[in-house]
Amino acid sequence: MTRAISLHDVSKSYARGPRVVENLSLDIAPGEFLVLLGPSGCGKSTVLRMIAGLEDIDRGRLLLDGEYANDWQPSARDMAMVFQNFALYPSMTSRDNIGFPLRIEAPGADPRPRVDATARMLGIEDLLDRFPGQLSGGERQRVAMGRAIARHPSAFLMDEPLSNLDAKLRNHLRAEISRLTRELGVTTVYVTHDQSEAMSLGDRVAVLRGGVLQQVGHPREVYALPRNVFVAAFIGTPRINLLRGLVRAPLDGAMTVSLGKQFLRLPEPLSLDHQLLRVQQGREVIVGLRSEAVRIARHSAARPGEVPLTGLVEHVEFQGHETLVHFDTGSRPAVVPELESPRPAARPARRRRREAPGVLDRLRERAGALRAGPVVVLDHPADTEAEPAPPEGRLPGDLVVRTTPDIRLRHGMQVPLLVDLAHLFVFDQHGDRICPSPARLPDLEE
Ligand SMILES: Nc1ncnc2c1ncn2[C@@H]1O[C@H](COP(=O)(O)OP(=O)(O)OP(=O)(O)O)[C@@H](O)[C@H]1O
Ligand SMILES: [Mg+2]
Repeated sequence: MTRAISLHDVSKSYARGPRVVENLSLDIAPGEFLVLLGPSGCGKSTVLRMIAGLEDIDRGRLLLDGEYANDWQPSARDMAMVFQNFALYPSMTSRDNIGFPLRIEAPGADPRPRVDATARMLGIEDLLDRFPGQLSGGERQRVAMGRAIARHPSAFLMDEPLSNLDAKLRNHLRAEISRLTRELGVTTVYVTHDQSEAMSLGDRVAVLRGGVLQQVGHPREVYALPRNVFVAAFIGTPRINLLRGLVRAPLDGAMTVSLGKQFLRLPEPLSLDHQLLRVQQGREVIVGLRSEAVRIARHSAARPGEVPLTGLVEHVEFQGHETLVHFDTGSRPAVVPELESPRPAARPARRRRREAPGVLDRLRERAGALRAGPVVVLDHPADTEAEPAPPEGRLPGDLVVRTTPDIRLRHGMQVPLLVDLAHLFVFDQHGDRICPSPARLPDLEE
């Protein structure tokens, strides 16, 4: 049996502190693999523990197969949890560890057939007589999975089960978890802060920020149509380029989005999406360009829908199968304070100097105050301090472009770029997406 799990307006706080989960509503279908994704402290484990019955729900309702289940005992929920720090009994063999919950559940029954079948499924038959101390980390995690699976629970709740493992093993077990849960057809709620794990595993991904659900959808949907800057920036590698722009929509001329000294000229006739930008005339917006939205090419090679831009090479990051080129385009990057750590490595020294600790602290503080509110607010007096005018002759900017590994570029070169407007995201001052149109459905054909 596999469960439908529904949360309706669920809220939670600890010891009369602030809410760590706020009005969360989610419907998880039987057999679905749903990933809860978000940065550290956003409430992922709390949500999982409320579903498991290990934490009380302050407000709202949990329904299991449509039945009100807020006060059900954890054992009555028939769910198996797999944690990051999987604990096996050190004095028991793998066989006994896997069989232990079966013996508790049905004391008279012989657990061996189930244990053997589970071990076959996980490819750990030859590990059954070993003790945990004689297993590698990955093998131990597989035994822990076996213990969860053998019971044939109606749902799996997995809390960062792979984060203690090295990258190679993580990828391997990720594929195994995906195969196993699909084979078993059991509803799975999987918590992670790793967006690539979320994207590769989930039937749907639910993105949380400060205890508030930002968006839930198919991985391609949250990537292609992020509801706000936070989702756009949290999902995708390299991180989406976010630049501060200004919409200019004169009555008698072409509409443009200025990016510092340069601008993107929107082609006439305006597409429906670009018409939505007209009301932003004179306002600051956030332009989002994923690295595949920009290519290095002569301006004369522009295809329909591509507009020119020029970038100054700041840094070239060789990745083996591809190269990431960091450009200055003369625009100012938009800051999503909660997500500022993933990108600083490629920052040249002068940028680091500008982001003095006092400024970052202030931005983080502001982010804390706004956790459940807007993702980012432009035109705030503190922003002016955070982003002082660039020194004469310097072009600050922040645009990462993905290109082939054979590219020959040197620091300081001026390079022509083409921006594909079909991949242009525009977010309003509060970080909500206005372009492409929020109503547009992504193409999700298999
Ligand atoms: N037992 C507790 N008492 C008080 N506060 C708690 C308790 N457990 C969690 N919190 C707080 O609730 C918030 C959400 O915690 P939670 O463990 O759900 O986050 P998370 O998204 O799982 O983070 P991580 O990715 O770091 O595991 C955090 O601010 C945390 O400090
Ligand atoms: Mg957690």
